[in-house]
Parts: sequence; structure tokens; C-alpha cells
Amino acid sequence: MAQYDVIVIGAGPGGYVAAIRCAQLGLKTACVEGRDTLGGTCLNVGCIPSKALLHASHQLHEAEHNFASMGLKGKAPSVDWKQMLSYKDDVIGQNTKGIEFLFKKNKIDWIKGWASIPEAGKVVVGDDTYETKNIIVASGSEPSSLPGVEIDEKVVVSSTGALELPKVPKKMVVIGAGVIGLELGSVYKRLGSEVSVIEFLDVITPSMDTEVQRSFQKMLTKQGLDFTLGAAVQKVEASKTKAKVTYKLRKDDSEHEVDADVVLVATGRRPFTDGLGLDKLGVAVSERGQIKTDGHWQTNVKGIYAIGDAIDGPMLAHKAEDEGMACAEVIAGKHGHVNYGVIPSVIYTWPEVASVGATEQELKNEGKAYKVGKFPFMGNARAKAMFASEGFVKILADKETDRILGAHIIGPGAGDLIHEVCVAMEFGASAEDLALTCHAHPTYSEAVREAALACGDGPIHV
Ligand code: NAI
Repeated sequence: MAQYDVIVIGAGPGGYVAAIRCAQLGLKTACVEGRDTLGGTCLNVGCIPSKALLHASHQLHEAEHNFASMGLKGKAPSVDWKQMLSYKDDVIGQNTKGIEFLFKKNKIDWIKGWASIPEAGKVVVGDDTYETKNIIVASGSEPSSLPGVEIDEKVVVSSTGALELPKVPKKMVVIGAGVIGLELGSVYKRLGSEVSVIEFLDVITPSMDTEVQRSFQKMLTKQGLDFTLGAAVQKVEASKTKAKVTYKLRKDDSEHEVDADVVLVATGRRPFTDGLGLDKLGVAVSERGQIKTDGHWQTNVKGIYAIGDAIDGPMLAHKAEDEGMACAEVIAGKHGHVNYGVIPSVIYTWPEVASVGATEQELKNEGKAYKVGKFPFMGNARAKAMFASEGFVKILADKETDRILGAHIIGPGAGDLIHEVCVAMEFGASAEDLALTCHAHPTYSEAVREAALACGDGPIHV
């Protein structure tokens, strides 16, 4: 019987990072994964393929809308959808093979198959039983649908099916104006689909800062996405090639129907723990199906840990990675730690949207005295040169101490810019610390400095 220090279940960003860190810390490690390739949802059917399609479709948008103004004449490219999908698959392949390489490099055994845990210290995969001192459950999440909506991954699709449609649909209805709905809705809008988004709440991207939500919706509307807010989807009826979505407007209970060639259901994800045998083991799970853990990612069963989408907190690859590293360190007797107050979140549309820390509403609700420093990309020379002057950087700082409490960016490169603020927050920096830091010109990051300046004596370029 093979014996390990740690067996990680699941090779998504949480699991594979946990496995690598365990191995680096000298623990004999294996990782169980049932998919044909490593990398989990993120690399195979999530973050990475969607970013490939966002990149490709953004290039098309640039060619159609901005090339001529820059003096680049000629017909805009047409879409070879088959080739675009094959480019996307190639990107997936490069990344998943990369993880396989890292496993070999770190001498991690990949146990192929689906795992169950008959008891603490044992993992069963197929006919084989493996002994291990510790188990890390990193089994991730799966799309959750709605009552009355059956996902067939052909006409009614989750994000997985939306990444491999046989053709670009004429009309797509997206249910849910969250991250997935808006990223993939943007892709298909740019590729020529008519895209209608139906959202239950009265706002898009529910957890974002209100000002960002409003600007973001305006920008996406300008790009041609159509929004119906405050609408509860009742049912989706699908044939082989078409679907009809029925929804009720919450304000007056009126019922409406809309037709589509493809319906994307993007109403959230739920933890995936099927087949692990958690019930029998007595591992405590919340009402929402999340595995309960203590401050060290240990479940109520000694030696069984859990991280990532399968536990509480934002379902983000980088949150799972951080937990993976920290959990490995705890198992190795070190002091693993995750600062949940500084986890950035990014939407990879154009422009990008990024945030970290508190929103203005949260600070108001807490009754905290704060100040706002805001700077529009309109005042940023680089952004103007790149047809990217929509949006702003908003920094929230403590009114008394000037300590940065949060940042919200909508604009070019927001997903990268946010990390400057994350580092500042990790160091407990004040807005003045950021404002006094020299920023190269001309860069988008000058907008972050200007927003920090706006928390004090004022920005220069507005
Ligand atoms: P989400 O939670 O971001 O958004 C779901 C949306 O659906 C919400 O706005 C919700 O109000 C709406 N909704 C729920 N029920 C509805 C109904 N009956 N009718 C109409 N609208 C309804 O979930 P999403 O977009 O599916 O993403 C799942 C997870 O994956 C999220 O945790 C997200 O953070 C993560 N993710 C992160 C990405 C990133 O970091 N860029 C990319 C893709 C996914």
C-alpha cells in the first residue's frame, strides 16, 4: 500500500499549488485528479480558456473600432470560429501540460481517477487504497442552475458549454450579470451575437462598489449588451436549436418571454464534493454545501483539510492558491496565513474591473469615517493614446489615519493595477505613501497615484 505524508484531492489552482508547496517543504505528496488533464476548472473550462477568447475577441473589436483612427486601414478580420477554438484549446494545453511538468519536477505522484475517503488517513481511487498522514480536499465547484432550468450544454449552457459552442450564436440570453455572464457575454457580443443579460437584482456585479457598477453597466450598454434588471427567471424551454426564457419583473410581477439560440446560465457555482464520502466520515458541511474548516483549514476530522471553492469565501482561483500554500505550510509545521481582507477580484472585460478591500457602501454600513480619492482615466496620457480613457481609479482611505481601506478600478489594465494597492494594503500603507511613490510616465499606474493624491491635497492632471 502506497504511503504519503499528504494526498491532495483535486488538481485545480488550490490543489496543485498545495501539492507543489507540500513537496517543496519536503512532504511526500500525491494529488488525485479524475480529469484527463491537470489544472481543474480554472485551466480547463474557466479562467484560462475564457481569457483566450476575451483576448481574441478584443483584438477583433480593436480592428473594427480603433484601427482606422490610428491610420491602420483595411478590412477588419472575419471570424474563423473553429480556429479561435483551436487557439483556445492550445492555450489550455500549454497550461495544463505546464502543471504536469511541475508535478514531475517536484516529484508529486498524479493518481488518476476520482477519490473517496473511507476514513481519515486513507484515500481510495478505483481499486487502490493509499495511506496518508494528511488529506487536503481541493475538489472545487460546479455551476449551479435554477429551478426550471435544465443545462444541456448545447442550447442551455453553463460556462463550460459556452466555451465550445459549435458556432457563434445569433442571439444569446445570459442569465445572471455576475462575472461569468459579463465576461462571456462580452466575448459573444464582440463576435457578433446579440446579447441580452437578465439579472435578478437591480444592479450588475452585486458585490462591487456602487459607482463601479453604474459606470460598468453604462460602458457595457454602449458596447451593445442589453440588460434587464430586477428580473427573476422562471423557466427555460429548449428545443434542439432554440430556447425560450420566461422571466418575471420583480417591480410589477409582469411575465415576459425572450427567445435565444443559446442561453448561458451564469447564476453562481456551488461546492463540488460528490463521491468523497464526507457524510459517512462526519465531516461538517454548511447549508450551502461548503466544507467547514477552522483557522488552519482543518475540518472537524483530524488530518482532513479543505481549501478553495469547496469551503467558505470567494470562489476565486487565487484565493484557493493562497489557501493551498498556507495549508501546506500548516501541515509542515509552519505558520501558513491568508489575509482575507486583501483578496483582489477582477473582471476581465474591456475595460477591466478590479477591486480590493472595502466598498464605499461597506464603510458607510460600518459607520467608518473615510475619504475618497478618485481619478478618471481621461486625465491619463497613456490611456488616451490607447483609446482607453473610460473609467476611473477610486481609493478609499481612513479619514483620520489615511490608511488605505479599499480600491476600485474600472479601466485599462485594472486587473494588474489593483496589485499595487494590494501590496500597499499588506504593508498597512497610507494613501500618502502611494502618492509619494514615484510612478513611471506614461503608464496607467499613474492613475492609481493620482487617486492616492486625491485623498490628500489633490491630483495634478484633472
Ligand atoms: P456570480 O455570483 O458572480 O453572479 C451570479 C449572478 O446571477 C448574480 O448577479 C445573481 O444575482 C444572478 N442571479 C441569481 N439567480 C438569478 C435568477 N434567477 N435570475 C437572474 N439572475 C440571477 O456567479 P457567476 O458569474 O456564475 O460566477 C461563479 C463564480 O465563479 C463566482 O464566484 C465568480 O467570482 C467566479 N468567477 C470568477 C472569475 C474571475 O475572477 N474573473 C471569472 C469567472 C468566474
